[in-house]
Amino acid sequence: MNEILRVENITKAYGRQKVLEGVNLSINEGEIIGLVGPNGAGKTTLMKIITSLLKSYSGDVFIKDENIKTSKKKETKSVGCVIETPGFYPNLTGYENLLFFAEISGMRDKKEIDEIVKSLGIEDYVHRKVKQYSLGMKQRLGVAQAVLTYPPLLILDEPTNGLDPAIVPELRKFIKQLAKEKNTAVLISSHILSEIELMCDKVVFIQKGKIIKVESLNRDSGDATTVAFITSKIGALEVFFNERKLNCKVTDKDQIQCKINREDLENLVSSISKADIPLRSVYEVKDSLEKKYLDTMRSE
Ligand SMILES: Nc1ncnc2c1ncn2[C@@H]1O[C@H](COP(=O)(O)OP(=O)(O)OP(=O)(O)O)[C@@H](O)[C@H]1O
Ligand SMILES: [Mg+2]
Repeated sequence: MNEILRVENITKAYGRQKVLEGVNLSINEGEIIGLVGPNGAGKTTLMKIITSLLKSYSGDVFIKDENIKTSKKKETKSVGCVIETPGFYPNLTGYENLLFFAEISGMRDKKEIDEIVKSLGIEDYVHRKVKQYSLGMKQRLGVAQAVLTYPPLLILDEPTNGLDPAIVPELRKFIKQLAKEKNTAVLISSHILSEIELMCDKVVFIQKGKIIKVESLNRDSGDATTVAFITSKIGALEVFFNERKLNCKVTDKDQIQCKINREDLENLVSSISKADIPLRSVYEVKDSLEKKYLDTMRSE
């Protein structure tokens, strides 16, 4: 796995207030990382540092092993970003704005603009003047501009802010596709945890300027899982599990939760029914990201 972004020991203060402290982070190509945390935690500040919008900080940011403080390459080519409201020329159309950005970033093939416009589904308004755009329309044009040159790293600060819920899945699909097909590394912040959960490989929890936890959301990782078994014969099922020395707990009048290896589940269900214990339902119990978030933030 090629590392695209490495953040080393970033500390940033505004006056006496430390807003980031000893932040370390790494993103590989094709990886989508979610950045979550309360208002004022330092998400936007970190993203501004990574995109060189903020230049005074201690620590280092490496993009493809080049320190952005000393790199002579134009970072605009290796990082695409949408941070806060994107700035466009209001009297030009969205398309003309994209053409302009494509030109200054040295993009050769204009067909790629049409491809991006199409995949973001903005073709119905891209030829109207930007001054007539709503917040959500500007936001989507902002994403188009950020990915125009298919940069290896994409930084999105609350990209779904102001978006109509019907558009959000399309944007998610677009970002996932970029990561998969173009190997783009993506850092995305959002307060909508269900969104992060559906899109990201990993979540970074940040609170008061510090990274307090990194959690992998990879669905295939780890074999152990918690499974809920619903039955009318709760006592019999408890005995069944205890006999097999399985770690289980009665969680409701008709429910037992048991920690097992995922590959053992099919055999287990079939042995339970052979033992004449009826099962009404069997499902994997997963903590939602919202629960993990609340638990993590509370424990600090
Ligand atoms: N220009 C500035 N001058 C002084 N303090 C600032 C400045 N910009 C941000 N801060 C402070 O830095 C801290 C982190 O702000 P930041 O915008 O990074 O938070 P955030 O995690 O993005 O929050 P939100 O979820 O509300 O977007 C806050 O306490 C904020 O008040
Ligand atoms: Mg912010």
